[in-house]
Amino acid sequence: MRTGTSERPDLPVALVIGGGGMGMSAARRLGQSHRLVVASQSASKNPERAASLRADGIDAEVVSCDITDPAAVAALMKTVADRGRLRTLAHVAALSPSGGDWRALLRVNLVGATLMERNTLDLAGPGTAAVFVSSSAGHLAQPPDPAVVEVLDDPLAPEFLTRLEELVAEHTPLQAYRLSKYALNRMCRRRAAEWGAKGARIVSMSPGPIDTPMGAAELQGPSRQIKLDLLGRSPMGREGTMVETADAIEFLTSDRASYITGTDLLVDGGLTAATKNF
Ligand SMILES: NC(=O)c1ccc[n+]([C@@H]2O[C@H](COP(=O)([O-])OP(=O)(O)OC[C@H]3O[C@@H](n4cnc5c(N)ncnc54)[C@H](OP(=O)(O)O)[C@@H]3O)[C@@H](O)[C@H]2O)c1
Repeated sequence: MRTGTSERPDLPVALVIGGGGMGMSAARRLGQSHRLVVASQSASKNPERAASLRADGIDAEVVSCDITDPAAVAALMKTVADRGRLRTLAHVAALSPSGGDWRALLRVNLVGATLMERNTLDLAGPGTAAVFVSSSAGHLAQPPDPAVVEVLDDPLAPEFLTRLEELVAEHTPLQAYRLSKYALNRMCRRRAAEWGAKGARIVSMSPGPIDTPMGAAELQGPSRQIKLDLLGRSPMGREGTMVETADAIEFLTSDRASYITGTDLLVDGGLTAATKNF
């Protein structure tokens, strides 16, 4: 007889990376059908995050992990494996352009995401599905030169950031954000065969402007006018909501999406379609 517990040992495991606005909304949604491990950088915020998920009746363990630290990622994989079979990965964490400098953005958004991809593949099996949250920014930017793409395709290579720094002229956070998301979409396409060999799937999901705390901070930052101009040209004429990104994450990782892999889903209210010359 046990009381006062939200434990659900009958459910498969989902790993959610990132405890910000979109990460917690994805956790709340995936927590309806999974036992969760939520991993995010700030240890101080984790007790509150765990308490709010458990208050909703969700079986959640919330842990601290810097996704750019290979030892921390390895420890996280052990935590996940100890919980049970990994059914679902929602990789949501990233730095926004106002969240760091050129190097920090590429380190978190691309090197960290790639470390997570490589490590979770070891835990994947038939039916496992991974979604990496990217951005419409990766679609809106001009594709980089082939030499830059070649470097972006191997972010775990030694001297990755130095080689990239030498090849690209602009070293702004916004440029790093665009490059990192462009490369993340490519990673999900290029890695689909490896995941498929295990009966598993990997996709990216590219939100447009979404009303999260990160989205609100960007509206107050140096990219404010760029963002407002984009929204003004968007067919839906509004920001998206975290319910809408959770819907996409839930669908893409569900068995209903069982033939969808190696591709990207834009959840941007038509912004890319309206602003890019195809
Ligand atoms: N909001 C938008 O308008 C928008 C638009 C397009 C794409 N996106 C993408 O959507 C995703 C989520 O955005 P959001 O608005 O929910 O952002 P957010 O609230 O800022 O959340 C980002 C999360 O990433 C975590 N994080 C940062 N560095 C980390 C590291 N080194 N290791 C582990 N975790 C780290 C943060 O952890 P702590 O909180 O624990 O410090 C934070 O919880 C991002 O990939 C973003 O690029 C957002």
